[in-house]
Amino acid sequence: MNEKNQVMISLKNVVKTFDGRLITDDISLDIYRGEIFVVMGCSGSGKSTLLRLMNGSIQPDSGDIYIKGKNIIGMSQNELDELRKSFGMCFQYSALLDSLTVEENILLPLKEHTNMSQDIMNIIARMKLSLVGMGGFENYFPAELSGGMRKRVALARAIALDPEIIFYDEPTSGLDPVVGAATDALIKDLSDKLKITSIVITHNMQSVFKIADRVAMLYDGKLIEVGTPEEIRNSSNEYVRQFISGDSQGPINTASPGTQMDFFKKVF
Ligand SMILES: Nc1ncnc2c1ncn2[C@@H]1O[C@H](COP(=O)(O)OP(=O)(O)OP(=O)(O)O)[C@@H](O)[C@H]1O
Ligand SMILES: [Mg+2]
Repeated sequence: MNEKNQVMISLKNVVKTFDGRLITDDISLDIYRGEIFVVMGCSGSGKSTLLRLMNGSIQPDSGDIYIKGKNIIGMSQNELDELRKSFGMCFQYSALLDSLTVEENILLPLKEHTNMSQDIMNIIARMKLSLVGMGGFENYFPAELSGGMRKRVALARAIALDPEIIFYDEPTSGLDPVVGAATDALIKDLSDKLKITSIVITHNMQSVFKIADRVAMLYDGKLIEVGTPEEIRNSSNEYVRQFISGDSQGPINTASPGTQMDFFKKVF
């Protein structure tokens, strides 16, 4: 079987509510080994929630989530912790520890999850930093770095344990277009070189079309479209068309209870 056809993550009828509000509404989805799968959607549409469901940080109300064929629903905490060692996480906000140097931030997961000697861990930390173009910044503190540099360090930390899957929550938000494009190139490079399965949440349409093997659009708790970038670009779904064109006029204005538009309408 072609490696890319192996299902890495499989969601079956996943439902999640918060305070009685339906956030993911019966989502079923397969993500294949080695692909870069991008999830796009309005603010508040449930993208981060979907990511947290996939990586086992939160449990659905109903439905099943399989990682490499194993259902993580009902899995013991030990088993889940073990599985999560094969995940890398790049959070929406870089989540580096400000009191630690760049190198110490990368060492954290290595210290927590391995028994390697300090020398070996230092070598690995430096290797990962040079992979993301941050060699030489080992002794800096996060506060001394730009936002783009911090995202790179967070990425180096995410690949510290050689993950099979990386979850990226808005890796390019807050970055200028050039640094954003460089971050995209890095995500693609890591995916190609290390054969990592990547799930990327983004609002950034340039990123979507540059890096995605497949794209999903989340709206009102549902995946309203899943396809290749080409299919998404040519989608006849009016919500998808409005989202990718960034038009303020269209169905998204009026329909979704989950989007920030609803909030704006209440306030203004
Ligand atoms: N732990 C929680 N408790 C209660 N409600 C939550 C929780 N996490 C998320 N929500 C709600 O779920 C909805 C979706 O949130 P989520 O963070 O998944 O959106 P998002 O698509 O990632 O938005 P953004 O693009 O702004 O990051 C929001 O209405 C949010 O208030
Ligand atoms: Mg989010």
